Amino acid sequence: MSDTDPQSTESESPGSATDAPPAEYDTERVEGLVDRLTLDEKIALVHGDVDPIDDATGYLPGVERLGIPPLRLVDGPTGVRSHTSTAFPSSIALAATWDPDLARDFGAALASEVRGANHDVVLAPGVNIVRVPQCGRAFEYYSEDPELAASMGAGTVEGIQSAGVVATVKHFVANNQEVGRHHASSEVGERALREIYLPAFERAVKDAGVGSVMAAYNRVDGTYMTEHRRLLTDVLKDEWGFSGFVVSDWWATSDGVAAARAGLDLDMPGVPMYEWHVREMPVDGLLGSLPDSLPRQEIADLLTTPWIPDADNPNLMLDSPFDDPLREAVTRGEVGESLLDEKVRRVLGQMERFGMLDGEQPDGDLDAPAHHDLTQEIAELGTVLLRNEDDVLPLADDADVAVVGPNADTAKVGGGGSSEVDPARATDPLSGVRERAGGEVRFARGVPRVEESEMVGGLRGWLGLGDDGGESSDPAIADALTTVREADVAVVFVQDAATETADRSLWLPGEQDELVGRVADAADRTVVVCNTGGPVRMPWAADVDAVLAGWYQGQAHGEAVGSVLYGDADPGGRLPVTFGRRLDDYPTGEKRRYPGVDDQVHYDEGVFVGYRGFDADDTEPLFPFGHGDSYADFEYGDPAAEGEVESGLTVSVPVENVSDREGREVVQVYVHDVEASVERPPTELAAFAAVDLDGGESRTVTCDLGPRDFAFYDEESEAWTVEAGEFELLVGRSSRDVRGRVTVEVETDLTAS
Ligand code: GLC
Repeated sequence: MSDTDPQSTESESPGSATDAPPAEYDTERVEGLVDRLTLDEKIALVHGDVDPIDDATGYLPGVERLGIPPLRLVDGPTGVRSHTSTAFPSSIALAATWDPDLARDFGAALASEVRGANHDVVLAPGVNIVRVPQCGRAFEYYSEDPELAASMGAGTVEGIQSAGVVATVKHFVANNQEVGRHHASSEVGERALREIYLPAFERAVKDAGVGSVMAAYNRVDGTYMTEHRRLLTDVLKDEWGFSGFVVSDWWATSDGVAAARAGLDLDMPGVPMYEWHVREMPVDGLLGSLPDSLPRQEIADLLTTPWIPDADNPNLMLDSPFDDPLREAVTRGEVGESLLDEKVRRVLGQMERFGMLDGEQPDGDLDAPAHHDLTQEIAELGTVLLRNEDDVLPLADDADVAVVGPNADTAKVGGGGSSEVDPARATDPLSGVRERAGGEVRFARGVPRVEESEMVGGLRGWLGLGDDGGESSDPAIADALTTVREADVAVVFVQDAATETADRSLWLPGEQDELVGRVADAADRTVVVCNTGGPVRMPWAADVDAVLAGWYQGQAHGEAVGSVLYGDADPGGRLPVTFGRRLDDYPTGEKRRYPGVDDQVHYDEGVFVGYRGFDADDTEPLFPFGHGDSYADFEYGDPAAEGEVESGLTVSVPVENVSDREGREVVQVYVHDVEASVERPPTELAAFAAVDLDGGESRTVTCDLGPRDFAFYDEESEAWTVEAGEFELLVGRSSRDVRGRVTVEVETDLTAS
């Protein structure tokens, strides 16, 4: 379990003895409504419909006769998709802060924007594990590690729901790549599901009381998630006690009866794509305006399928499987009306819980100035200082700076797809540096801009044409080199263009690698700032003086990067994902593991995901999980552990900031099972705490661990098992920078929950 304020007490770690939170709504009132609803009214409450205002991502009309208002659902994880609104930094940037309290603040601010747009449910956070570095939506997720993903996800959910909005944790489960996402089957063993892919959802349910869970498009072990009874009902609802509603991903439901029986409660968006969001897709707007007499679906198939993302989703043009098909199945007695009642109960329960039945939701604030400041704080604390030779950073105020990069004059706000946000304003890195600098700032683009969908460089990398560093005759590079030679330091901004519906290359698009290499040869000192949606290869890493990983920074990109480059803010981030040297170094290098074969993705690596795999294979990463330097310097005293594994123990470690400036440190605690009878990763993150220390300040940082932090999931006994024997707690700055160890002994085998 993790916390940012080491002085505070900790709640139990996930899966602990605490039962699921109570239903938290007036069950009697909801039951009274269910009893009075007609069959048609019940059906209308379990599938979406066309939004008359046309700006919700999903819409339920409600039942005016009984005072049940409409329910409006909206994307997404970094801001409100339907309105001009605050564009927060990408989720992976938030995760890089390792600060669940900041996640709570973010969640509350996001919810305020959602309420400001008059919506009730936000389709966030996305908590899927970044299993492969190519994961196209890594920017929308948190980490390769379940503890970090679970802590940041639960914090975000708590923040969202504290401000009167239902959070929807997504995409349940094992939706870890974009390739084949609508039909591929994630072939995951039970132990990996339990230890790696389920914990973030489990913590959101058990610790944060999440109101909604989104069933993913993909199959797990051959069964579509919208029809996966074991995971939707046996695990999520019965074992974890989830009392909210399971909503499908958009057009993810194929078989309404199978989905109803499996535990899906709400089918979204409930209308064919050519009727959904007519405003957003002009072609569909045209189709929507066609007279009913025309064969609209055939025309849609003819005109729009090639233009529609996810064209391989057969459900896009269909009416909801929870409309006529479900109504007829209930009428025929094939599906009991009591099963339909349970779905309605879960939807109305969350509406009652959050005051929607009485119009008692808090007002919100779209595009609030305070939210702009928060995006800057998250971006600063999520920026990871990967390398800083000879303390080239922070920049001297009077330094003459050459800003180089194809997109340095454009803010890298976010990634592509359903998470996109249209902010009222966004500051770009060049302006940010110019605003903050005391010396002269020159700008040279160097190479052609990286367009949002361009992945040319990626293709070159995939084809193995990689970093041959061939001479470019491009005069723009020559011009950039002249510019950097006249400056004290060159700051090169590089980026990629990740998006939903496509996986990403680890190569920077276009000629950015070449640009960095040529600048590094020409400049006195070179700083590289990477704004990418996940890990990237850095063939030039050893040739430059400093590297910052800034992810997608949200609308305050310029202020944040200016503040970090000049040292106003300490880059507080730590890597939430491993940066490997090459694709083959990752545990998922084989084709059957990624992108899969014959529509099956084999999770053969089991629990050895990310750093767990790198450590087990003793493979040296480029930059390890948890890595991040600071402008300050921290020294650790000897760690200690108090308490028992079974009842919970507290790890404490003195940390001193021995520099003369403030800085942020993230203390990380990893567990090593010395005598395991099963294969376990060398270390597994169990807890962490982010602390801000002034120059010269010391503090004893504490982290609480519960039995689950020592357990592995035993498939035989179907239980979380802590085997008797010796465990080592490794305390340090990353999975590979251990500053102290403590040994704890477990006397007898334990079962955790
Ligand atoms: C998308 C995404 C999901 C999003 C939903 C609504 O396909 O998978 O994250 O919330 O549809 O846009």
